[in-house]
Amino acid sequence: MAYSSLEIKGFDYVQHYVGNARHSAYYYARLYGFDIAGYMGPETGVRDRISYLLTCNELMFAITSAIVPEHDIHNFVTRHGDGIREITFKVTDVYSAFEHAIAHGAEMYKKPYTDKDDQGTLVRGSVKIYGDTILTFVDRSKYSGLLPGYEPYEGPQMKLEDTGLVRIDHIVGNVEVGKMNFWAEFFEKTADLETFIHFDKGDISTQYSSLVSKVVRSKNTAVRLPINEPAEGIKKSQIEEYLDVNYGAGVQHIAIETADIVKTIRAMRANGVEFIGTPQTYYEVIGDRAHNIDEDIKELAELDILLDRDEKGYLLQLFTQPVGDRPTLFYEIIERKGCDGFGQNNFQSLFESIEREQARRGNL
Ligand code: FE2
Repeated sequence: MAYSSLEIKGFDYVQHYVGNARHSAYYYARLYGFDIAGYMGPETGVRDRISYLLTCNELMFAITSAIVPEHDIHNFVTRHGDGIREITFKVTDVYSAFEHAIAHGAEMYKKPYTDKDDQGTLVRGSVKIYGDTILTFVDRSKYSGLLPGYEPYEGPQMKLEDTGLVRIDHIVGNVEVGKMNFWAEFFEKTADLETFIHFDKGDISTQYSSLVSKVVRSKNTAVRLPINEPAEGIKKSQIEEYLDVNYGAGVQHIAIETADIVKTIRAMRANGVEFIGTPQTYYEVIGDRAHNIDEDIKELAELDILLDRDEKGYLLQLFTQPVGDRPTLFYEIIERKGCDGFGQNNFQSLFESIEREQARRGNL
């Protein structure tokens, strides 16, 4: 059967590798509003790792750490710090997606395999992508559970406010200088994605740093993968800082969709999530972008929520501070009101804010 990206139904789970799974699971549950749904570890017959499965509406995070020395998970965390090991596409046929990827130049990580338990059959297969990240194709059409290998979690729930996070909108990778086109073409060839937007040198820049970016997406827009690489600037770009402290390429941010960003940001702030600050002048200068919106601009300003527009509609977004010890992975909260973009007109004000943080760390 010929494979096409129309068979991609969306993102499935995201696998985090971390130093201490229990602490990270509690962090995401408490601050981001996840339920802790599953647990894997010695009590469930797994001797080398601990993993928690977190869910919030359609979102699923697996958060995993090793509990024995000299383990691949330790090696990942030693090199990169806590980060994203695995991203996944929900597909209709793992075998055809995997074979198409391999036939078009992807490197195998794990051949398609089947897990069977009392909740059905789950099929997965994985290929290597940028850095130490893998992409897994998942067919859950014959599986009624969350993920095989997890038992129901029976410990305390950490959730405070309901945040209303719904699903992943896009996952962004930072890659080395000169590699953006390679990875955009990689996804075009191996997963039949198409290049949707290209931000060129000079489009996105400040006095101090710049980046170039391409967005690839499936032809049904079920998955979107922006890819950034650093560009020449007077000072070190934020992408370069990421590549330095992450010791290579990797996932930079995951954008999570909400149906009510004002409610979501209010709840997340109340839970203790820290966001990138927005300059006060931003709401004075956005002018035309702020016409005919459903939200109260004063409320957006109070919460630092950013606004952008294209010919089809508008979007609202806000970025968190990096979640780990290194300034690598962060999150974006996004609400789309018809707009297909990524907030490119906000890049300038966003970067100015990020660079203020970077300067404080002495990395600018
Ligand atoms: Fe984004």
